[in-house]
Amino acid sequence: MTERPVTLVTGSASGIGRVTALHLASLGHEVVCTDLPVDALDETAAMTAGLAVAADVTSEAEVAVLGNRIRDTHGRLDGVVHCAGVEEDFIDADEMPLATFERTMRINVTGSFLVAQAAARIMIPRRTGSIVLLGSILSTVAYGRNAAYTASKGAVLQLGKALAVDWARHGIRVNVVGPGPVATPMSQETIDDPERGTWLLERIPLGRPAEAIDVARVCAFLLSPDSGYMTGAYLPVDGGWLAL
Ligand SMILES: NC(=O)c1ccc[n+]([C@@H]2O[C@H](COP(=O)([O-])OP(=O)(O)OC[C@H]3O[C@@H](n4cnc5c(N)ncnc54)[C@H](O)[C@@H]3O)[C@@H](O)[C@H]2O)c1
Repeated sequence: MTERPVTLVTGSASGIGRVTALHLASLGHEVVCTDLPVDALDETAAMTAGLAVAADVTSEAEVAVLGNRIRDTHGRLDGVVHCAGVEEDFIDADEMPLATFERTMRINVTGSFLVAQAAARIMIPRRTGSIVLLGSILSTVAYGRNAAYTASKGAVLQLGKALAVDWARHGIRVNVVGPGPVATPMSQETIDDPERGTWLLERIPLGRPAEAIDVARVCAFLLSPDSGYMTGAYLPVDGGWLAL
């Protein structure tokens, strides 16, 4: 019998992370769930029969503890889907507090770096692994009033490419998924807003925002051997937004 893949899903108390954790569990992965809100995190872990380890992805110490728990429990790590992130800036750049900009960069960029680094340190001895980072369509285009989020997602894309090049020699693949608007707590208010929601929908050729499962399925593909020759890639999951 082949071993079940051990996969870490960050941000798994909510949205894309939770749905990805459930989807991967249904595909036979041993899921390790991490996030900040403990009750919601425990719920996801219970639904996936997985391990729950609360950690702040901006804390090197907490991410190291997470890595140690994975080593102690499973002895290995095959995949990561890094969904923890924030979008807090719906404000013109000239009015944006520095604290908002720096917090967004710290959670979205530094958090991606710390999680990927901790994962790679477990994966390197076994010379195999697949890491999926959550970018956005805003990794490559901008639509205004969210300079911090847009800058952070651009950085995540470049980080993914840099890590892919660094770790290819260790057999570790790193790819970046770029969703358009997804119906999760992060974007639901915007999608439901009559003016902004209509504006968004007009830009999606497939005519609907993504559901979290649309993104989860692409992440599962990037973890699987079916994508074994893909690394450093950026995959939009945007209903055609970037093609328009
Ligand atoms: N929803 C969208 O429209 C959309 C579009 C493109 C990209 N994305 C990206 O997908 C990812 C998941 O977004 P979502 O829609 O599921 O959002 P969400 O708000 O539902 O979930 C994000 C999760 O990240 C966690 N998180 C935030 N800061 C953290 C920290 N410091 N440490 C640990 N966990 C932390 C939150 O607690 C939350 O559970 C994010 O990176 C987001 O930028 C989302």
